[in-house]
Amino acid sequence: MAKQINWLMLQSKKDKGEKITALTAYDASFSYYLNEAGIEVLLVGDSLGMAIQGNQNTLNVSVDSLAYHTRCVSSHNSHALLMTDMPFMAAATRERAFLNAEQLIKAGANMLKIEGGEHFAPIVAELTACGIAVCSHIGLGMQFSSVQGGVRVQGRDVEGAEQLKRDAKALEQAGAKLCILECVPAPLAQEICQQLRIPVIGIGSGVACDGQILVTYDLLGLTPHLSLRFTKNFLLESGGSIQQAFQAYAKAVKEGQFPSEEHSFL
Ligand code: KIV
Repeated sequence: MAKQINWLMLQSKKDKGEKITALTAYDASFSYYLNEAGIEVLLVGDSLGMAIQGNQNTLNVSVDSLAYHTRCVSSHNSHALLMTDMPFMAAATRERAFLNAEQLIKAGANMLKIEGGEHFAPIVAELTACGIAVCSHIGLGMQFSSVQGGVRVQGRDVEGAEQLKRDAKALEQAGAKLCILECVPAPLAQEICQQLRIPVIGIGSGVACDGQILVTYDLLGLTPHLSLRFTKNFLLESGGSIQQAFQAYAKAVKEGQFPSEEHSFL
């Protein structure tokens, strides 16, 4: 049986220049096949609010829903690192963060993901001190769409780019073990990857990131109403089998063939 993946193993992949594969998972069956395909990180993301619950955004996803789906994914997860989102406002105060983090870790998460910039560094430090591994999520954040002015590429201007670099560094210094970087121009993403010691997993942030993540339903073409430049339908080009689509994604990420320029921003 494959060894349980932890953040140190992901760190050593970055150190060796080996790309990291990650995808979202919301249930036991997908968890099983994602493990079979060798996907290293499974994210129970608050994207389930859109993909599973049919909402227009992720703001209504509760900690209870995330705990429920974490248990589902955990039941058939043999060895991938299981990361769960802290949903909207779940880490807004210290007290909330502790209670919500405890619930999600007890549901089976190995790591928690917090959307937001340097403002969250103290909470990342406190959770880390309590024994909880945290992944930061910076750049585009659905939880921040009203302050970010919708779904748009982040860090295009000098001020935005400098803020993103400060966010990335502050959260790493606070103890974050991974960083997810969403919808950032590829050259800026490359700079951030070089500046951080921890692995940076990109989504819509170019091929230089240390790994890639996508919403699994996008990769399977199950969200046709959402046309996002940075996603790719791997099911179409891999013979119509879900297992083959996961394998094709893993191979393309490992070989640095995904994302191409067509799926990145400059
Ligand atoms: O919730 C989610 O699925 C995410 C990914 C887009 C990274 O945060």
